Amino acid sequence: MNYKLIEIKHSQNKEHPENGGLAFLEAEQDIPFPIKRIYWIYGAAKDVRRGFHAHKENVQFLFCPFGRIDVMMDDGTTQETVSLDDPAKGLILSPELWHEMLWMTDGAILCVAASDHYDESDYIRDYDQFLEYAKQLRAGK
Ligand code: TYD
Repeated sequence: MNYKLIEIKHSQNKEHPENGGLAFLEAEQDIPFPIKRIYWIYGAAKDVRRGFHAHKENVQFLFCPFGRIDVMMDDGTTQETVSLDDPAKGLILSPELWHEMLWMTDGAILCVAASDHYDESDYIRDYDQFLEYAKQLRAGK
């Protein structure tokens, strides 16, 4: 499936865990596209589900700096779920994957760096339409 989990560079002093960690991303080095937009989802309660769409062009880099969020991805034939349960985990998500995010902890934060500006016409929000789109993509390959 067309996604990639990466380890975000981070620093943590093992002798002073109380100081916390520091994670960092260098644009165009760690994120494989020029970032045009950053958004984040905050204040969501455990068990909330969001997403339920795919994109046509927009590539996204997701990370969860606080809490745990599970991301289910679907390419039209199979489904896979990854857990963003560590502030140093990053997920590069191809546009054509249907995705649903499940909040596993209260107040978990989802941060997203996107390759495109917000454009509603880039969204596929209907699952049946998505299945048809995925079928066409497979036929074109
Ligand atoms: P929406 O895509 O419905 O969120 P989700 O699918 O995760 O539940 O977005 C919620 C609203 O915010 C919707 O009206 C579109 C708007 N929005 C923007 O204006 N800019 C953005 O960058 C994003 C991600 C959403």
